[in-house]
Amino acid sequence: VGLQREVDDILGEYIARKRTNRESFPSIGFSRSSSTDSFATDEGFFEQQDLQTSTSVVMEKILRRRSLQLRNQQQTWQDSPEGQNMLEFRRSLPAFKEREALLAAISQNQVVVVSGETGCGKTTQLPQYILESEIDAARGATCSIICTQPRRISAMAVSERVAAERGEKLGESVGYKVRLEGMKGRETRLLFCTTGILLRRLLVDRNLKGVTHVIVDEIHERGMNEDFLLIVLKDLLPRRPELRLILMSATLNAELFSSYFGGAPMIHIPGFTYPVHTHFLENVLEITGHRLTPYNQIDDYGQEKMWKMQKQAMRRRKSQIASVVEDALEAADFREYCSRTRESLSCWNPDSIGFNLIESILCHICRKERPGAVLVFMTGWDDINSLKDQLQANPLLGDPTKVLLLPCHGSMASSEQRLIFDKPENGIRKIVLATNMAETSITINDVVFVVDCGKAKETSYDALNNTPCLLPTWISKASTRQRRGRAGRVQPGECYHLYPRCVYDAFADYQLPELLRTPLQSLCLQIKSLRLGSISEFLSRALQSPEPLSVQNAIEYLKVIGALDDKEELTVLGRHLSMLPVEPKLGKMLIYGAIFNCLDPILTVVAGLTVRDPFLTPFDKKDLAESAKSQFSCRDYSDHLALVRAFDGWKDSEREHSGYEYCWKNFLSAQTLKAIDSLRKQFLFLLKDTGLVTDSFSTCNKWSQDENLTRAVICAGLYPGVCSVVNKEKSISLKTMEDGQVMLSSNSVNGKESKILYPWLVFNEKVKVNSVFLRDTTAVSDSVLLLFGGNICRGGLDGHLKMLGGYLEFFMNPDLQSTYLNLKRELEELIYFK
Ligand code: CDP
Ligand code: MG
Repeated sequence: VGLQREVDDILGEYIARKRTNRESFPSIGFSRSSSTDSFATDEGFFEQQDLQTSTSVVMEKILRRRSLQLRNQQQTWQDSPEGQNMLEFRRSLPAFKEREALLAAISQNQVVVVSGETGCGKTTQLPQYILESEIDAARGATCSIICTQPRRISAMAVSERVAAERGEKLGESVGYKVRLEGMKGRETRLLFCTTGILLRRLLVDRNLKGVTHVIVDEIHERGMNEDFLLIVLKDLLPRRPELRLILMSATLNAELFSSYFGGAPMIHIPGFTYPVHTHFLENVLEITGHRLTPYNQIDDYGQEKMWKMQKQAMRRRKSQIASVVEDALEAADFREYCSRTRESLSCWNPDSIGFNLIESILCHICRKERPGAVLVFMTGWDDINSLKDQLQANPLLGDPTKVLLLPCHGSMASSEQRLIFDKPENGIRKIVLATNMAETSITINDVVFVVDCGKAKETSYDALNNTPCLLPTWISKASTRQRRGRAGRVQPGECYHLYPRCVYDAFADYQLPELLRTPLQSLCLQIKSLRLGSISEFLSRALQSPEPLSVQNAIEYLKVIGALDDKEELTVLGRHLSMLPVEPKLGKMLIYGAIFNCLDPILTVVAGLTVRDPFLTPFDKKDLAESAKSQFSCRDYSDHLALVRAFDGWKDSEREHSGYEYCWKNFLSAQTLKAIDSLRKQFLFLLKDTGLVTDSFSTCNKWSQDENLTRAVICAGLYPGVCSVVNKEKSISLKTMEDGQVMLSSNSVNGKESKILYPWLVFNEKVKVNSVFLRDTTAVSDSVLLLFGGNICRGGLDGHLKMLGGYLEFFMNPDLQSTYLNLKRELEELIYFK
């Protein structure tokens, strides 16, 4: 469209100038030659007829002219002194040796698989080689290269780096696009984006019109989006024979991908890393001197007893790192463990593990070791934050003249990210606390020491219980190798694993692909909205297909919430949900919140469910914390409404004071509240972006004060997470259809009540630990459940009532049944007879 406009402009200008008899087109750099009726440009002549008769010819010429411009620009930069330096650096990377082979393979094959050690130059160099070769061949203006990254931070960091390597600002020939953010100009030819963005583009542009190369990076991670994208691209390739697909992976499982694409050629970039000295927990304990009470002559019984005591002591500790070590003990066969590490076990004082262990090892590095940055692998954002707080209180590690402490995670602002890559001033040691994203997708150049807690947060999914969970799980041997490798990039390095050798031996070789361990609801919606046919059939063509039971569960869930109809086609609700990049239940809550004009509290609830619970329960002040929380409940039986009140109170106090005292008094995490606040803004933006909120903010908050309406919208989102409530003499009996008797977790405000004056609770999550526990709950009435739970679209009102009737009958509660029948009659009258 832009080009067409430019052509029209030229033609318009041509005619105008012809009328006034002027001779040149200064604004676009064309000059008219005096003798002939043609226009000289830097690439030749423009015949007058060209301009008048065929816009496509003109368009071609303009593109050619732009291609030449690009070539000149590239040449000018490469000839400049800075450009020369940059080229020299780039030529020193292992990928450079394979440049010609890579380009040849790409031009001769539709699909190529490239593998190589992290840091060898796949992400920054390969897309650039393609761009440069296209520009050299004067096709710069017509090529369009898309390189996908699994994470926002890498898409942003890499594009910035590549633009710098090309001597440009971001948004010129190189750009990026991630959800809600981007830097991309009309001239952008190489775009780094998240995999999700490319999938979104496929929604509206099935054939990727105009795209010449698609590069899918980090495929070894086997993220769900990447696996999904590969199925879609595999279908697309025959329709677009000139499109090139390049798959890039860090570790060596290239064969799998190659055979998926019918034996596509593989190119391996040989890398070089320095040796890394590995310490397992036994060794780490020795280095840090964590040998406190030596228990020598203990007989087998004594030792086993001590082992149990230690495990109990550790269980009391809240930190995830402590549980890492605890699991290390759990995972290892006790006797084998004792025989291998008798020494260290007998010296092990559980008081000194967890963060303290990390603190000591970091102190050891700062005091005794050679210069070099430290990279600490943690499980998640909360652990990173608490560890940072603890380290900052340490006299050595908290001293900013000696140590630069930097957290690093996927959703942080880009200005913060940049610090991670910079070299600190001399004499200051950089310590980066990162999640497993620092394993492969970003490269911090000066790392010499790696501290590895051995776990990563991984979504897992239990198809039988239909319960998803995000838990720290042991990493694979491949990940361990990756983490360790980060230490040997610039010189020989050291790696400290916080788990015993025998636990490492029990690790799986590779991590299970995400597709096989996450609930598939969002994915199923995407398959439908991309019109990719039957869900089960489509997923059966994946690299590794998920269990048919998981697929069936997901489809059934989507039918129950009204996103799919009986024929498995998207409903209107389903179409809206597929456009929101959140879990369907949260999307549904947002949509209902927008429709019913009670958006503000719903934004808080959804953001809270996405981030985490801001209510803290310190181990030693459990009662105080719980009673602080119950103040927010106002006896209305809802954890979600309690959250809304706590959040609103924080906002008010933040306006006046800093809000910290409020948090302190009420056992709230300011950090989490801030994260919720910023996510609320993102969600609002999303709703506006997809057109679900068009009115002013005051309109969509017309009913925000009506807590019963908010309750109803929460019910709409959380259904079918429902349990029945029967108040007994001394206790409350709770049941769900699938699990029978369930319990409330103790930090739910409803867990404290002796009676709940509502017949139902809707819940977000259930966790199975001995018995089934419900986390956050909100009590709802019959009529709310009837009207908002389930899905009126499915089989009309009748079908909805029948389904609910079945649900109520299941509990065989005559009171409920009569309420239900009354309600049903009322509703029928209301709808059919009025
Ligand atoms: O993708 P791969 O892991 O193979 O490597 P890369 O991300 O392309 O990085 C190649 C090299 O570029 C690294 O070894 C770093 O030396 C350098 N680089 C950098 O200096 N700054 C960045 N932001 C990214 C990479
Ligand atoms: Mg890379």
